[in-house]
Amino acid sequence: MMRPAMTRTSQLALRADLLDFTAAPHWGSPTMHGVRFRPDHWLLIDADGRIAGAEPAAQFTPGPDWQQQDHRGQLLLPGFIDTHVHAPQMDVIASWGASLLEWLETYTFPAEQRYADPALAAEGAARFLDALLAHGTTAAVVFPTVHRASAEALFEAATQRGMRLVTGKVLMDRHAPEGLRDDVAGAQADCEALIQRWHGRGRNACAVTVRFAVTSTPEQLAMAGALCQRYSGKGGVYMQTHVAENRDEVAWVARLFPEARSYLDVYHRAGLLHERAVLAHGIWLDAHDRALLRDTGAHIAHSPSSNLFLGSGLFDWPAAIDTGHGVSIATDVGGGTSLSMTRTLADAYKVQALRGTPLNAWVALHAATRGAAQALGLGHEIGSLEPGAMADLALWHWAQGPVAAHRDAVATGAAAGLAAQPLHARVFAWLTLADERNLAATYVAGRLMKGATGM
Ligand code: GUN
Ligand code: ZN
Repeated sequence: MMRPAMTRTSQLALRADLLDFTAAPHWGSPTMHGVRFRPDHWLLIDADGRIAGAEPAAQFTPGPDWQQQDHRGQLLLPGFIDTHVHAPQMDVIASWGASLLEWLETYTFPAEQRYADPALAAEGAARFLDALLAHGTTAAVVFPTVHRASAEALFEAATQRGMRLVTGKVLMDRHAPEGLRDDVAGAQADCEALIQRWHGRGRNACAVTVRFAVTSTPEQLAMAGALCQRYSGKGGVYMQTHVAENRDEVAWVARLFPEARSYLDVYHRAGLLHERAVLAHGIWLDAHDRALLRDTGAHIAHSPSSNLFLGSGLFDWPAAIDTGHGVSIATDVGGGTSLSMTRTLADAYKVQALRGTPLNAWVALHAATRGAAQALGLGHEIGSLEPGAMADLALWHWAQGPVAAHRDAVATGAAAGLAAQPLHARVFAWLTLADERNLAATYVAGRLMKGATGM
């Protein structure tokens, strides 16, 4: 199991090329707005695991009270934030031949049934969080299963690793097989117990976790909305669900809730849309829905790899920008085919290419770091290299393998000056070609997570 390499008592200084964001970058042609690139700097980390500052290596040498790790020539980013991913679905990643509803029935529900066993849930939670760290992801908003023990297992495993985690037992009281259904009263009791035990404890937070409108009765949705209301405001509970992913699903929801204006409106009527609401997909939304997201502060966890793999559709990111609602990035494993956020962002580029608008690397990386943190109300803690933020970090090789090495050499060589935005050209090539093999190290609260990369 991946453990912190040691409990650090000293201050740590990491030397690398530092990249993060101070504001939301512009859509379209890349500019440097909001981009903070500090080549060859020392990132200074206090003994409590928080970032103290950064200094240029050419002009500064950390004193003897700093433990130094020299990774010059490597790229240091805030750890990625995966805002929608299913821990138990590592068991069904890359399952053949089905679109959403058939995929759930054929592969996913049978796999999730097995998580009724607390020992299996504990093993699965540990494997899953170690896998996130091995992909440079240090924080996540996670679906377990309907079983309370599966959420407990994730909280326990995240606490052991010191990771920032948002999760909650999945609510589903209809249209699911035996062993995966709860009921309103039991679900409420489980949610309340999880909130009392885990919400705000360490770096854990609870989410009212509605699987999707299909698998909850109106009574259960109302109960979930009442929970959001009871534990609302700053430091309140999150809400996570799926919305408007697949056309057959959208049609089913319309039949189940004929009184609602739209799929999103089902959640709105139940009181589930608020500033801590994370809704995966949002492909089949209209302008009214997008305005509702903006006005309630809810945001979309865009899951491009899943949307391509399950043939769900192409997310309209420019419409989200024009409307002004939040967008973060998610792997949605096991609908998604990788826990790598770089691969996922490369897929996001391809989705927008199919829609006719290129996604630039700055918008993409911002959505997976600072943008996600802010959408979750956690901008003070994660997603940036600001002083005071937790030192949740991923250190990357600029290139891995001969093709990427050649491409990076071109991007940094004599021809680089010809590019309008040479840094963007280099980072875009890195983002498009990189995966977990590029990861050199992962840090959580300034502690090296041994084993993340076989170190
Ligand atoms: N909609 C309801 N459940 C799921 C799930 O597990 N994965 C995806 N991609 N969509 C869903
Ligand atoms: Zn999902």
